[in-house]
Amino acid sequence: MRDIYPRIYTLLDHIPGMVFQCRNDSNHTLEYVSKGCYEITGYQPDDLIRNRVVSYGDLIYPDDRDMVWINIQNAVVQQKSFELVYRIHTQSRQIKWVREVGSGSSVINGSDQLLEGFITDITDWKMAEETIQRQVRRFQALRDIDNAISRGPDLQFTLGVLLEQIVSQLRVDAAAILLHKSGSPHLEYGAMRGFRTEAYLNKRVRLGEGFAGIVALTQQTIHIPDLTIVPGLSDQPLPIEAEAFKIYYGIPLVAKGQVKGVLEVFSRVQRSIDPERLEFLQALAGQAAIALDNSSLFEQLQNSNTELSIAYDATLEGWAKALELRDRETVGHAQRVIEMTLRVADRIGIRGESLQHIRRGALLHDIGKMGIPDAILLKPGPLTPEEWEIMRQHPVHAYEMLKTIDYLTPALEIPYCHHERWDGNGYPRQLKGKSIPMSARIFAVVDVWDALTSNRPYRPAWSEHQALEYILRESGRHFDPDVVNAFFGY
Ligand code: C2E
Ligand code: SIN
Ligand code: SIN
Ligand code: FE
Ligand code: FE
Repeated sequence: MRDIYPRIYTLLDHIPGMVFQCRNDSNHTLEYVSKGCYEITGYQPDDLIRNRVVSYGDLIYPDDRDMVWINIQNAVVQQKSFELVYRIHTQSRQIKWVREVGSGSSVINGSDQLLEGFITDITDWKMAEETIQRQVRRFQALRDIDNAISRGPDLQFTLGVLLEQIVSQLRVDAAAILLHKSGSPHLEYGAMRGFRTEAYLNKRVRLGEGFAGIVALTQQTIHIPDLTIVPGLSDQPLPIEAEAFKIYYGIPLVAKGQVKGVLEVFSRVQRSIDPERLEFLQALAGQAAIALDNSSLFEQLQNSNTELSIAYDATLEGWAKALELRDRETVGHAQRVIEMTLRVADRIGIRGESLQHIRRGALLHDIGKMGIPDAILLKPGPLTPEEWEIMRQHPVHAYEMLKTIDYLTPALEIPYCHHERWDGNGYPRQLKGKSIPMSARIFAVVDVWDALTSNRPYRPAWSEHQALEYILRESGRHFDPDVVNAFFGY
């Protein structure tokens, strides 16, 4: 017994995460904590034990403290284990998300009641989850506007939905749309949100005058990062000083080469819009231009729908790029696999609209990896069984993430089914043979070819010869033999 204990403590010190024993008090007073506490909190065990430098309870984010305390007390009363997710401040004042798993059945040591448990850092995972949710909300916003547009020529309604989305999704303070009728020397405020008074509605602005007039005339976006140092604001059509605006964006709404209006966005705080949100703003401006164009030319709806799907596809490409940035080794991967997949689909005889869905599905095939923590996605070596379990969820994440978006449901086959195997030993649903959608059977071959011939964080690239042999060998096992034949152009 005597020499087992030191070895157990050495073991605990090497586990990533912090193992602890604490008193059941609101300070979470630690009696023991493993060395992993340094990586998570920035404090050494000696700083935390018996609250010597700081008490762990004080590291818990103030808004989360009551929740943590109450849940632990409940677990103690019921003699059950608990699992909590909350935020802490580290020594360098960084905020991290952690998961604490512990036992509510206490050990009594003299007069102290001791609890035991384990805390891990789940910040990366939380961040990835939030990114996905934010992007899904934005995509949904585009859908709402699309629906508003297709409801008909009620321009006020459409513009209202659009401005609502801009103000809430971009977290800016105010937004306005000015309209331009072809041939008119004026713009006119057609819809506004977030102004302290909306008395400016229907106010006219001459082309070339004021920020909006210049935007319309030059068809160029204007961004003013600090309105407080711009002279002559009193000549502007809107009372910028009285509204206390600090930042301005003016974006031309152009359809078919003609200015249909101007979108203005204002912020009362000195905070620029980050590039990701700016891209979204441009997509919304594209929608607004279409809405304005529709209102005058309803018969060209067919045409505008094409433009609409171009705006969506730009959003999808943004997602795929975000994933490539994270998964550094795979830059250019999405584009390569799209081209190969379409080529094989063509050989198999797939025609028409399905090709568009295959293109989108291939582009988004690994979007579910957004939900996989960096520690697993970028791990240089083989995965443990637990890590595999998480990795195998990536097709399910993609399905959950995209299923609510009508426009993408036909494109879901590839993200959801690209790791199924012809022999039924794939994942996530162990589909077999022809019950795997054809698009996913095609894509599986292309994905593996591209993966094997590329460097990965976990291994260097194989030669084309090795990859070719592998794919032939797996024909009829991993892959549909007909697809393998088409892949090699037989
Ligand atoms: P990925 O790297 O894009 O690989 C896609 C698929 O190509 C793999 O799906 C597998 O069918 C095939 N493939 C890739 N590399 C190899 C290889 O070295 N040998 C063989 N026989 N096949 C290979 P799979 O296995 O379901 O993996 C899905 C994803 O899981 C991979 O996408 C990658 O992101 C990750 N992954 C797989 N193995 C490892 C690993 O050992 N370490 C790490 N860190 N990640 C891994
Ligand atoms: C990537 O996501 O770009 C590479 C991973 C894969 O193809 O499965
Ligand atoms: C889905 O189930 O909606 C897509 C994947 C499949 O076709 O099985
Ligand atoms: Fe995948
Ligand atoms: Fe892939």
